[in-house]
Amino acid sequence: MKLGTPLSDTAVRVMLLGAGELGKEVAIELQRLGCEVIAVDRYPNAPAMQVAHRSHVIPMTDAQVLNGVILAEAPHIIVPEIEAIATEVLADIEAAGMARVVPTARAVQLTMNREGIRKLAAETLGLPTSPYAFAGSPEELATGAETVGYPNFVKPVMSSSGKGQSFVENADEIADAWTYAQEGGRVAGARVIVEGRIDFDFEITLLTVRSLRDGVVVTDFCAPIGHRQVKGDYVESWQPQAMSAGALASAQDIAAKVTEALGGLGVFGVELFVKGDQVWFSEVSPRPHDTGLVTLASQTMSEFALHARAILGLPVDVTQREPAASAVVYGGMEAQGVAFEGVAEALSVPTADLRLFGKPEAFERRRMGVASARGADVDQARERAREAAGRVKVVRG
Ligand SMILES: Nc1ncnc2c1ncn2[C@@H]1O[C@H](COP(=O)(O)OP(=O)(O)OP(=O)(O)O)[C@@H](O)[C@H]1O
Ligand SMILES: [Mg+2]
Repeated sequence: MKLGTPLSDTAVRVMLLGAGELGKEVAIELQRLGCEVIAVDRYPNAPAMQVAHRSHVIPMTDAQVLNGVILAEAPHIIVPEIEAIATEVLADIEAAGMARVVPTARAVQLTMNREGIRKLAAETLGLPTSPYAFAGSPEELATGAETVGYPNFVKPVMSSSGKGQSFVENADEIADAWTYAQEGGRVAGARVIVEGRIDFDFEITLLTVRSLRDGVVVTDFCAPIGHRQVKGDYVESWQPQAMSAGALASAQDIAAKVTEALGGLGVFGVELFVKGDQVWFSEVSPRPHDTGLVTLASQTMSEFALHARAILGLPVDVTQREPAASAVVYGGMEAQGVAFEGVAEALSVPTADLRLFGKPEAFERRRMGVASARGADVDQARERAREAAGRVKVVRG
């Protein structure tokens, strides 16, 4: 692909749908290669908007409005950063050859719905997953839960970051899980998935990159990223996660199959559960993954640089340099225009670095920043990242 000059006739225009902290890093990497970056989100001053050439504030789930913005901006490449998008618009735009959707419109559609991606992985590709059933009513959920067994997880088919998700230990809790899923899902009256609990040793994100090398699509794997989730939200991640050679081979095999089926170019975050040599597919993001923020410290090229390069048809390098870890800085309060104290103290931790996302509004559990650190081993890196994140104090402006 030929690159051009932003804001001129030769510009390569890239539109980010979703302008959060992951999009911000992708925008910065695209800017470094001279792309013209247009950021779109549902609220003003979103992180990626602050580093883009232009931005638009629209409800991205409104097909007509989304279509209007795409037609007006005429991007060459559309990069969805979140799932809550009117994806049928992307399918039409791609089919009409008006823009390339990353990685593909079909991949974006399949992965925004747990039903689409689960059936592809388990039924079409035959990959190992937790036992599961789908339900459209409390009665169907009760039946489904009996077949997959207890304990289990109930999740809206369209949701992310643990929203509407319940851990269910017995049949008495099923009615509440149904109600909670309806409240937390993206659309009312939506279906849910019930998944048997996998009793894993640890879970990983296997960042998998599809890029062009000499005109041919190649698949590369970053070193596995371990992470700790609280209520469906990651609180810390580290790279590499130690695992057996057999488990790593299985993980890469699963990731290769699922990303090949989704197609296109870019970074995918393949979420896997591991117990000994056994590996289960959980889900996949067709884009950089939040747990992959650790790659800002650990790799030669962060997952954001990898994504930017891959989607532009450029070669990538997934080399890991040093063990590293990331730890999240939460809002801890509801307030506009918060300030951060203790930054100097945080950055005094050896090897520590910090990203403050610049989000205009803080919530209790909103991710406002992330600390990263390297170390002689993962334990030391985790210790340092946690220490650095803990020294940052969010205060009212
Ligand atoms: N079947 C399962 N067995 C064991 N643990 C599970 C299962 N399903 C979910 N979990 C736990 O809950 C976490 C969140 O689940 P999942 O990734 O499906 O939700 P999500 O809302 O898509 O989260 P995110 O958007 O942050 O990835 C998992 O990372 C895992 O820790
Ligand atoms: Mg997940």
